[in-house]
Amino acid sequence: MKTLVTANQKGGVGKTSTLVHLAFDFFERGLKVAVIDLDTQANASYTLQAFQSGLQASSMFGVESLELENKTKDNMPVIALIESDAGLANMEKMALNEAGTNFRAAIANLSSQGFDVCLIDTAPSLGVSMAAALLAADYVISPIELEAYSIQGIKKMVTTIANIRKVNPKLQFLGMIPSKVDSRNPRHGRHLEELERAYPQLMIPTGVGLRSSIADALASGMPVWRIKKTAARKATQEVRALAAHIIMKMEIYQ
Ligand SMILES: Nc1ncnc2c1ncn2[C@@H]1O[C@H](COP(=O)(O)OP(=O)(O)O)[C@@H](O)[C@H]1O
Ligand SMILES: [Mg+2]
Repeated sequence: MKTLVTANQKGGVGKTSTLVHLAFDFFERGLKVAVIDLDTQANASYTLQAFQSGLQASSMFGVESLELENKTKDNMPVIALIESDAGLANMEKMALNEAGTNFRAAIANLSSQGFDVCLIDTAPSLGVSMAAALLAADYVISPIELEAYSIQGIKKMVTTIANIRKVNPKLQFLGMIPSKVDSRNPRHGRHLEELERAYPQLMIPTGVGLRSSIADALASGMPVWRIKKTAARKATQEVRALAAHIIMKMEIYQ
């Protein structure tokens, strides 16, 4: 099982949108996908509510083993949502050492139950649960907005990932995904150029535009390619290209 985290301590930058679309895309490719929602805002849990597994995300930090084998026993693709719950707030008081150890064991447990991919959505803060997810993960991506506050924050994110890599050397930062990009906004163009200069290795080439069909999709519990509007076509192309890029980087079909 390969594990990917969406992380950025800034909110509203497209973490959940990206994660949910990767889950739908990977599912359609025939994979068994576990989704863990570590954000108490529960946005991914809302959009993926049709895929509830019965497990709550805070149980990933405990020592009891998780039972999801009924989800993976058939030779069928699946999305199993491990949903956000109020107990997650208490995980922020755990020692990182303990939280990280337990979370890593829970991820190993999911792997042994036959999942191909585990996608983890995180809250917009550099807290214990985000750090635990990064300590257990193979890959991390950071959706970003091309606005000044977002760019200010990304330095911290890059530093955090570098620090986690000292403890979890298998973690690969696949890069930043420009999200909600308005091609007619010169400020966005300037910021994108700035970022490409500052982080030439870290800019994912398949960004996603500012497209209201994506917000429609998230509200309706479906991927943007199921939205029947002409305007959804461009969004679909962008999100599919992003998913293809990520799946290639994750080397799932090797
Ligand atoms: N590409 C996009 N175009 C337009 N709106 C978007 C896009 N991506 C996300 N949104 C909307 O922006 C808001 C924040 O996105 P979200 O994915 O929830 O960010 P985060 O998880 O980083 O807080 C949501 O209301 C979502 O519907
Ligand atoms: Mg979110």
